Amino acid sequence: MRIEPFSLERWMTTWETEVQYDLAESGIQPISVNELGRLTGEQDRIASLLDEPLLYSEATGTIELRNLIAGLYSNTGPENVLVTTGAIEANFLLFNNLLVQGDEVVVVDPCYQQLASVPKALGCEVKHWTLRADNEFRYDLDELQQLVSPRTRMIVVNSPHNPTGSILSQDEMNRVYEIAESVGAWVMSDEAYRWLTLPGQPESAKPARELGESGLSVSTLSKPFGLPGLRLGWLVGPEDVVRQCWWFRDYVSLSPGYLNDRLAQIVLRNRESLMDRTRQIASGNLELVEQWIREREGLIDWVRPRGGLLGLLSYRMDVPSSELADSLARDASVMLAPGSAFGNEHHLRIGFGANPEKFREGLEVAGQYIERVASERGVR
Ligand SMILES: Cc1ncc(COP(=O)(O)O)c(C=O)c1O
Repeated sequence: MRIEPFSLERWMTTWETEVQYDLAESGIQPISVNELGRLTGEQDRIASLLDEPLLYSEATGTIELRNLIAGLYSNTGPENVLVTTGAIEANFLLFNNLLVQGDEVVVVDPCYQQLASVPKALGCEVKHWTLRADNEFRYDLDELQQLVSPRTRMIVVNSPHNPTGSILSQDEMNRVYEIAESVGAWVMSDEAYRWLTLPGQPESAKPARELGESGLSVSTLSKPFGLPGLRLGWLVGPEDVVRQCWWFRDYVSLSPGYLNDRLAQIVLRNRESLMDRTRQIASGNLELVEQWIREREGLIDWVRPRGGLLGLLSYRMDVPSSELADSLARDASVMLAPGSAFGNEHHLRIGFGANPEKFREGLEVAGQYIERVASERGVR
């Protein structure tokens, strides 16, 4: 398989070890294993893990972990769950097992690049279902209806959405499912940002898995729980799809890490205490961004995210986003991801999950830098 470079990952790895303020990060501020113990009260269990031999772990994920994950979905048992190396592996396995060359796939656009690039590399015809700034990045269901055809094999959605913070309401998700069913397609739903409801906003739709056997849900501990380093995600779907993905994974990563699987059990047993921390950080930082934007009216704006941890800032300067993002990182030591990595020029993607103190400082530094560029290059 030949695949195009993952633009955002290339850009992130160029700068993430260099800068002081990473406002491009896509998850909540990560926690340590000790902090996980303190937040959950499971320090003794964590200490006992250090004495366990590091065996190959059960390839599908332990039954304990799969039971915990199955409990997050209605009508789902452990046989419907495969534990994976992050959501990224779950997505990769589903695409590789359910799509073949020549299939048509409708993918939300902009998107986490993997969702479009892997189907494209498999030889599928990728049709873009575009969320537009002038429609407040809303999912337009009539447009989806027009995009699908009898050749459509899969509709790929992501809600809450990376990079816009858009969400699918329950009615909208039901309609996506109906449209998919009408042409015999799968709904592949990347729910990496599940549970990340924002103050004053409705909940994102329930998982695609709960809509029926054509619904496939993917999720992760990376974004909502602050544990990207665990590399622990999962896919949930019909048993035969899970088995197919498992057999494919024998050739890729074989099984989840032994400790990662056990730590994930601790996380999911204590989901709510970890989510309290997440919501507190996200809502506080979101207020800071809104204030920061108000102070720069006419220069910076955004469509307020309705869920998740990300949003797209638009700026009124004739400066390409890659140039602005590079110079911000190099000269001001602040990372804001270039909108061009998502096909949204004159935008920067911000993540509001970072350590609040650092986030406030980083915003201040970025604001001063962007104002300086505006005074030199002019405002449109
Ligand atoms: C929408 C989306 N899906 C999947 C992933 C991959 O996440 P993980 O760390 O679980 O592999 C990301 C990471 O940024 C993402 O934004």
